[in-house]
Order: sequence, then C-alpha cells, then structure tokens
Amino acid sequence: MVETVLVTGASAGFGWAICQELVKAGYRVIGAARRLEKLQDLKEELGDSFYPLALDLTSTENVNQGLASLPNEWQEIDSLINNAGLALGLDKAQEANFGDWETMMMTNMVGLAYLTHALLPKIVERQGYVINMGSIAGTYPYPGGNIYGATKAFVKQFSLNLRADLVGTGVRVTNLEPGLAGGTEFSLVRFKGDQDKAEQLYQGANSIQPKDIARTILWLLEQPAHLNINRLEIMPTSQSFGPLPVHREP
Ligand SMILES: NC(=O)c1ccc[n+]([C@@H]2O[C@H](COP(=O)([O-])OP(=O)(O)OC[C@H]3O[C@@H](n4cnc5c(N)ncnc54)[C@H](OP(=O)(O)O)[C@@H]3O)[C@@H](O)[C@H]2O)c1
Repeated sequence: MVETVLVTGASAGFGWAICQELVKAGYRVIGAARRLEKLQDLKEELGDSFYPLALDLTSTENVNQGLASLPNEWQEIDSLINNAGLALGLDKAQEANFGDWETMMMTNMVGLAYLTHALLPKIVERQGYVINMGSIAGTYPYPGGNIYGATKAFVKQFSLNLRADLVGTGVRVTNLEPGLAGGTEFSLVRFKGDQDKAEQLYQGANSIQPKDIARTILWLLEQPAHLNINRLEIMPTSQSFGPLPVHREP
C-alpha cells in the first residue's frame, strides 16, 4: 500500500523539495500552502502522485474547509510533515511589530497544532509519522529571534509531548531542527522582500539546501518502524556557536 503524506509549506523552499523527493521515492503527496498557483506548477512536474491543496494555516476555518475538500482517494493520510512556517523581522523585542509576532504564533504554533489535532486520529489508525519542522532557533537564542525562536521551542516540546501521548500506538514523531538554510524564501519573507539583505546572509556560507532537508525527511520516513528519531539538529559545517556576550558598564 502506497503511503500518503501531507506536506505543509509545499509552495516553496523545503516543502517544495520534500514533495519532489517523496514523490520520486514512490509516496503519494498532498502539498499544502496558500499559493495554489505555485502548487499547480509543482503538480505539472509531479503528476498524479501529487495533490495541490490550498490552505491557510492561520485560519482554523480554512484548514477545515481544505481538509474537507480533499477527494475521497486523498482522504486517508498516513503521515504529516508540518513544515510550513515563517520568521518576520529581526528587530529587538522592544522594537518589534506585534502583528508580526501574531502571524508567527498563528502560523508556526496554532496552525501547526490545529492541523496536527485534526489529522492525528487518522495517523494513529494508520500508524503513521508526524515530522515537525523545528529550528536551531528553538534551542539557541539570538538577538532578534524573540518570538520566532519561541515558536520553534513550542514545536520542539510539542513534538516530545506527542511522543509521550502516542507511545504504544506505533506512531512516530520527530522534531527536525535545521540551522542556516538557503535556497528558500525564508529570509526574503523575514526581511519583507529585501533581496540584498536576504542574499547577504548566505554569502560564502555554503548553507543547508532544500534538497538536504528533503533527503533527511525521506531518510526519517524510511527508518525501521521500531526506531524513533526524537530530535534531529542539522547545521551547515560553516555554522557554529558563539561565546555568551556580557554587557559591561563603561
Ligand atoms: N530556511 C531556514 O534557514 C530554516 C531554518 C530552520 C528552520 N526553518 C523552517 O523550515 C520551514 C520551511 O522554511 P523554508 O526555509 O522552506 O521557507 P519558505 O521558502 O519561505 O517556505 C515557507 C512555506 O510555508 C508556507 N506558509 C507560510 N505561511 C503559511 C500559512 N499561513 N498557511 C499555509 N502555508 C504557509 C509558504 O507558502 P505560502 O506562502 O504559499 O502559503 C511556504 O510554502 C519553516 O517552518 C521554517 O521556520 C527554515
């Protein structure tokens, strides 16, 4: 029986590459995002094993409508890749825009939790897999990471708590935690369309690429059923850790 996987954030970056990799490996993939036209481009490329699903994670109503609109043959979802998410701004907390914070919380936490809640009964029935896209930002603080990092810390703890509840069901859960990754729209979104600023971040860094994440997701899905990778943190070799700064009075 071919497994059906729902991938959120399929219209760009990691999600796009994950859909390509999974279809190539023989999975049936539902790719969800707000921009249906992008998903339709992906459908052109991937054919009948791919179903484009327009869905806005910030609206529970819209998520319900999206799931209800799935044709019968796409209703039986085995596994969920909660990849969609975003960072908005890199301002200090005391200068940040609260609307940006709300959007990040609604997308990265509420939307992810809502979709997971909606699909879990099916996933349990089918002994599937939930892979959540965390980030190193959920573990290591950095200036300007305020709410984004906090949403990813939520995703990490939610993943671990899901494991606690799902033990005995055969359902596996992984929190995947990438570091600096280029080749996606992530920084363009974070810097609100400022292409130069976004590009500067990746210059000379040889950063993680969407294909690396897609191959990791496939590797996770193909581990034997008796193994659960709880958390997986990946950085480009060029990225490392900084010293803890101390502010000193002059
Ligand atoms: N790139 C990095 O450095 C990096 C590092 C660690 C973790 N991550 C995480 O990896 C995930 C994917 O990031 P990426 O780098 O691939 O970024 P990306 O290229 O900007 O892709 C983000 C995806 O999320 C979707 N999305 C955003 N808001 C949505 C909403 N309200 N409803 C439904 N879909 C929504 C976007 O589609 P639409 O705009 O079409 O809705 C898009 O497909 C995110 O969770 C991000 O936090 C990224």
